[in-house]
Amino acid sequence: MTELLRPRSMGQARERVDGAAKVTGRARYAFEQPVERPAYVHPVQATIARGRVRTMHTGDAAALDGVLTVLTPDNAPLLATGHDPELEILQSPEVAFRGQLIGAVIAETPETARQAAGLVRADYERQPHDVTLSPERDDLYRPDVVNPSLPTDTGQGDVDAALRAAEHTVAATYTTAMYHNNPMEPHATVALWDEGGLTLHDSTQGVHAMREAVAPVLGLDKERIRVIARYVGGGFGSKGTAHAHIVLAALAAKRMPGRPVKLALTRQQMFSLAGYRTPTIQRVRLAADAAGRLTAIGNDVVEQTSRIKEFAEQTGVPARTTYAAPNRRTTHRLAALDVPVPSWMRAPGECPGMFGPEVAMDELAEDCGLDPVELRVRNEPETDPDTGLPFSSRDLVGCLHEGARRFGWQRRERAPRSRIEDGWWTGTGVASSTYPVHSAPGTSATVRLGRDGSFEVLIGAVDIGTGAWTILTQIAADALGVPAEDVHLHLGDTDLPQAPVAGGSSGTTNWGTAIVEAARSFREKYGADAGPGDELIATVPANPHSDRFAMRAFGAQFAEVRVHAATGEVRVPRLLGVFAAGRIVNPRTARSQFIGGMTMGLSMALHEDSVFDERFGFVVNHDLAEYHIAACADVESIEAQWLDEHDPYVNPMGTKGIGEIGIVGTAAAIANAAYHATGVRIRDLPVTADKFLD
Ligand code: MOS
Repeated sequence: MTELLRPRSMGQARERVDGAAKVTGRARYAFEQPVERPAYVHPVQATIARGRVRTMHTGDAAALDGVLTVLTPDNAPLLATGHDPELEILQSPEVAFRGQLIGAVIAETPETARQAAGLVRADYERQPHDVTLSPERDDLYRPDVVNPSLPTDTGQGDVDAALRAAEHTVAATYTTAMYHNNPMEPHATVALWDEGGLTLHDSTQGVHAMREAVAPVLGLDKERIRVIARYVGGGFGSKGTAHAHIVLAALAAKRMPGRPVKLALTRQQMFSLAGYRTPTIQRVRLAADAAGRLTAIGNDVVEQTSRIKEFAEQTGVPARTTYAAPNRRTTHRLAALDVPVPSWMRAPGECPGMFGPEVAMDELAEDCGLDPVELRVRNEPETDPDTGLPFSSRDLVGCLHEGARRFGWQRRERAPRSRIEDGWWTGTGVASSTYPVHSAPGTSATVRLGRDGSFEVLIGAVDIGTGAWTILTQIAADALGVPAEDVHLHLGDTDLPQAPVAGGSSGTTNWGTAIVEAARSFREKYGADAGPGDELIATVPANPHSDRFAMRAFGAQFAEVRVHAATGEVRVPRLLGVFAAGRIVNPRTARSQFIGGMTMGLSMALHEDSVFDERFGFVVNHDLAEYHIAACADVESIEAQWLDEHDPYVNPMGTKGIGEIGIVGTAAAIANAAYHATGVRIRDLPVTADKFLD
């Protein structure tokens, strides 16, 4: 067991440390950095999905007043190749997807850069492109691992035989759409290249991670790169890995020595340059005995990656671990297409991978004549079905029961299509949520005693809007035994101690543990004799309990859905999520994380769908006017609750990570509620009106 930190500041619903700076506009985001005489960069993108650029006509652009230079594959500074094809831009005339960078204009104003970029013309040698994802393709391949480095396929027993022998079975195909992350703040970089090296103000989830990614491509010693990100307006995974624009900003700055350059992607550019979630096709099979105990679980997943770079979403992973069954099988097969590079989006794997299985569980419950909550409770595993390890803590059953109680689940009609009110079919649905506890060794933090007796805490973490500024202050206060007012944080800079990305819901675990270690070591070393300027840096080793326990957060999502009998219009009057996610450090920021995740799940259920035009190979609804995301009007009541959970193995705070679990299971709960309302089973997201009218 780990010695758990005694909560004093932790647990308080403190206001955001960065709140006042944000609402008054004093919090500077990447693009807002006040730099001397900036030049502005606007990308030029390929308008074919496959082929090569034969000639770039840049004369009209270069002739425009205020244009400083036009970068093309012919004249761009050289990069080191062989590291990351997504980042190795403007090094060859090859075009691997529509929207890929083929050039850029640098100009005195953003308006001039944009206008000039529109004047650049490219002649192409076109090749036929292939952008069609289908389970029937004969070139689907088995990746070596799935994200982040998990087995591609797993299995035990015989799922086929179990299905043949079973009392109750479900075998169906479920699909999730292509999704784009769309944080409010677009991806933006301000780059300055001078004698000292390269400085990047970047809208990123991880300053050290960006440096690691771009240093080899730029052929620079990483010590010569500084990345700064004090405030970030959301990322949802799209800013967790480096994308092409950061390299473009660096190349442009290299062309303008001593002069800073600014680059912000437009919303439209984000649909081809900032990652997205692959569409998934999930063949789910479940078998159960007469009592509703699962005898087999299978999820065979087909999804896409780009031709130039592999990203294998771990969609089958949650089916490995959520319920017990003696016969099990998960597989992943990819199609490598002429499409933009997919990447992380909030709860990669878990989010799409709980849609198929959790709708299938609803179908199985009906087949068994069991309540869907009861079916899940009956299939609670003793140990982690995937690894065989005990769970460090697991309270899915508690979440299901508490959620059912709060939601009024008992009043639910047994049969679907039982209740119509004022022309609206009305029903309720449930689904489970789960998300792993990730931790990475090697995170460092520094604690320093200031002149006025307050403490400075230094760590290269990034708050992307999650509340890290606030909760790390609370954790530091408890670790140092001082009030939160006496802790001053420094975040978001590679000059600060090494920290991993705000990703995988692991920020609190990794950064918090490093801060606790630094505080404990500081107190041990200096005790009562500490004086101003005394400081100590600590680096966290791997969690020794990680090999002994399966560590995951769990939750249960409940939805009420109304579908209009005449039009098929879908409304969601109520969403409730109950989570068991370890200690909640700050109820205010935590609620915001859970509800934010659930809202994104609602959005996935009802609206989100990147419509890919296969003739041209691009997303046609590439802006927020046509790529719909959920708004307040889409849900009348959305509520997140949590159970007290004390887990002495995950980290010294007892936290499990809450950034992503809220999006997991939400769409399934809504689809299940829509079925209960109408008797129409929708297995393909989004749940739109037309699907009820056939
Ligand atoms: Mo999150 S998708 O792990 O950055």
